Amino acid sequence: MRCLLGCLIALLGACTHAKVPTTTAASSATGSPAAAATGSEIPASGATETSPKGHGHPQPDSSSSETGSRHEFHRPTHRFEDAQAWSQVFDSPERDVWQKPDEVIAQLHLTPDAHVADIGAGTGYFTVRLAQAVPRGRVLAVDVEPNLVTFIQRRAASDGLTNVEARLAPTDDPQLPPGLDVVLVVNTYHHIAERPAYFRKVRQALAENGRLVLVEWRMGKQEHGPPDDHKLPPEVITSELAEAGLELCREWDELPHQHVLFYGTHCQGAAKHQP
Ligand SMILES: C[S@@+](CC[C@H](N)C(=O)[O-])C[C@H]1O[C@@H](n2cnc3c(N)ncnc32)[C@H](O)[C@@H]1O
Repeated sequence: MRCLLGCLIALLGACTHAKVPTTTAASSATGSPAAAATGSEIPASGATETSPKGHGHPQPDSSSSETGSRHEFHRPTHRFEDAQAWSQVFDSPERDVWQKPDEVIAQLHLTPDAHVADIGAGTGYFTVRLAQAVPRGRVLAVDVEPNLVTFIQRRAASDGLTNVEARLAPTDDPQLPPGLDVVLVVNTYHHIAERPAYFRKVRQALAENGRLVLVEWRMGKQEHGPPDDHKLPPEVITSELAEAGLELCREWDELPHQHVLFYGTHCQGAAKHQP
């Protein structure tokens, strides 16, 4: 059991770069970290796998495009169904050492009444910290996994965080309310398909000086994180987000394995969350 847990924690990076299964999502994606540890769907760092289309990044599922539902065009390309098990990974205290969540939150310069969204919130690792940083504000946690949404709702209730709302969203639309000061996306950007269209919707939800903040893996072999063909270089991200009408305003370069990139509709102006 201890070995399994250790493997899961070591796979934190791997789970965050889950590739598009080479078989159908329905048949191969179990959403189980145990399955991940066996390599059935998620490669350990450095593991070789059949390279999927798009270097492991989500692709449109054309087979479901004829359903007639606007939001069924993409299925989640990797599933995170077992919330308890994923929590052992995402919320591992060992992650804090390199993830430095409090320093990341400090970089957001949130005012206590800020309105924030956490897209791909997972088990709420950042959601709960954001909620503590905005005691008079709101945090909307968005995910595509019903079990994770329920997990966050229970976690927030148990922590007495009344300013958290966890919401299930389709894969192609975070369905954000307008007027957000910060939208945080951690280790999730590369899981999203059709990113310019998706982040155009995010841009429309930003307040006048609001910021989209991405935390994404650095290129190169790292102690944590996926192999390079699952990552996106920052210049690719910035180019995709330019298509969405977002400009790179700032980069915070103090995390060992990840970039922290700040985007806005324009980079001038004192935002509510800026110092
Ligand atoms: C690697 S986890 C990161 C979780 C969390 N941000 C963290 O740092 O602990 C990626 C999360 O993104 C979610 N996800 C994947 N595709 C998504 C999409 N299109 N929209 C929103 N969330 C998505 C997954 O369900 C999963 O919870």
